[in-house]
Amino acid sequence: MTLSRRRLIQLAGGAAAAVPLAGCSEIGDRIGDNLGSRSGSSTGSKMSSEIDIPEPFQIPLPRPQVLKPSNSDGTTDFYEVTQRAAKVEIIPGHQTEIWGYNGTFPGPTIESRAGRRTVVRHRNELSVPVVVHLHGGKTPPEHDGYPIDFLLPKGGYQHGGSMPGHDMKAGNTSEGTKDYIYPLDQPAATLWYHDHRMDFTGPQVYRGLAGFHLVRDDEEDALPLPKGEKEVPLFICDRAFAGDGSFRYPASDHSLHDPGVTGQFSNGVLGDVILVNGAPWPTMDVTNTRYRFRVLNGSNARRYALSLDPKPGEGRSFVQIGSDAGLLGAPIGHDKIEIAPAERYDLVIDFSQFKVGTRVTLRNELDNGKLGAIMQFHVASRATDDSTVPGKLADFEQLDRSQAVVTRQFLFGQGVSGGKQIWAVNGKPFDPNRIDAQPKLGTVEIWKLVTDVHHPVHLHLAHFQVLSRMTKAPLARDAGWKDTVDILPGQIVEVAAKFTGYQGKYVFHCHNLEHEDMVMMSNLQVV
Ligand code: C2O
Ligand code: CU
Ligand code: CU
Repeated sequence: MTLSRRRLIQLAGGAAAAVPLAGCSEIGDRIGDNLGSRSGSSTGSKMSSEIDIPEPFQIPLPRPQVLKPSNSDGTTDFYEVTQRAAKVEIIPGHQTEIWGYNGTFPGPTIESRAGRRTVVRHRNELSVPVVVHLHGGKTPPEHDGYPIDFLLPKGGYQHGGSMPGHDMKAGNTSEGTKDYIYPLDQPAATLWYHDHRMDFTGPQVYRGLAGFHLVRDDEEDALPLPKGEKEVPLFICDRAFAGDGSFRYPASDHSLHDPGVTGQFSNGVLGDVILVNGAPWPTMDVTNTRYRFRVLNGSNARRYALSLDPKPGEGRSFVQIGSDAGLLGAPIGHDKIEIAPAERYDLVIDFSQFKVGTRVTLRNELDNGKLGAIMQFHVASRATDDSTVPGKLADFEQLDRSQAVVTRQFLFGQGVSGGKQIWAVNGKPFDPNRIDAQPKLGTVEIWKLVTDVHHPVHLHLAHFQVLSRMTKAPLARDAGWKDTVDILPGQIVEVAAKFTGYQGKYVFHCHNLEHEDMVMMSNLQVV
């Protein structure tokens, strides 16, 4: 294991005595040995496709449809989304059944105006309960997609298994349709929406229940950034395909009535095909100008390290202008940027740095062979560019640790519950009835997040800034307001979280979706 139990206790400092470390070191050792979590790439096990994997860079990059409101008034835009199964051609020559928002994967992009209300009426035409969560949204608790606030299929739902250690009591169950109300009183940002059904988020997102939700505002509109066709969302994820073309996922019960994955896959499911906007290793023609890419890692467990090949001669490969929850104060250059599940980066690439005719690969430096590539840009033609990246982007409030009124510590690691291995927070399985933190509305708190293997930790409602990694300064890629932080094996990361918005009960959890389903989740209640 990367970190011995003793070392973890030392690192965690005085408070560690109170932190249950049950089972962490023994089980972690085995994970480290069996699953290569020490390699620094991803925690998980690889699922292989049973069909021939296509050659990269053959399919043009698709763009998800932007959803049109069904109605609008002075304050609100109304949308309608039906969750249903559909057959789509992802791998040429094969039909794949997806579960999609309006039958598409990724789902349609919703675009909202900061401060204007968005109401999305979701209809469940699937065979199982669903929950819709707007990731990164500042949403009242009853619309946040709490994991047991089920939207049942029309006609109800009879089954109901649950993971060891927590019981599945019904939340605000509704049937057939539910209106999710989003005030979106927050700055421009790249948000996304996805399924959040307790115990089944992994398989349901894998089948396709995820899409972009962009928030725009006047501050961002006023900037001379690339716009229109040159503002491109990139939904990156990995999948494996069975012989019949269906998605291959190691669910214990493929009807998704009973939870769980088989064997080692509770460490995370890694596919062997990289999809961008639902197409395998696509290619995109660009002019020799700047483009803005809203990059989302929508994978269940896979991490990526993005770089360009070839690299531009002089300048940086990527100019980062935004993080999970909005624009940065000032741009940051990167040549390589790691991205964990659920994280977003808003990146500008200046293709004038390449000769017309160049094919530029967006690489994944954490892997090689086909998995070492994500997509390709073909600098196909010349054009004039009226965009720039200004030195000042948004008004940015830098949090200081002296603002914090409380410090809390959470260990994300393996545990045991009812004789079974689980993924736990402070040694405990998720229980919808147990509150583990009660921050006061409007305050800033320091959360010390401690890990055994990779855990991308996500807080609902609260946005945060990374204060430190292993007592040292944060990484360049930690900049800005975030809602998910990529914690490496055996690390302690401190974040300063600001609990603004609403009172009520929200979850925080690991966004490796197999870990989340294996109960690595807790409640915070804003009071
Ligand atoms: Cu992206 Cu609790 O979720
Ligand atoms: Cu979320
Ligand atoms: Cu995890």
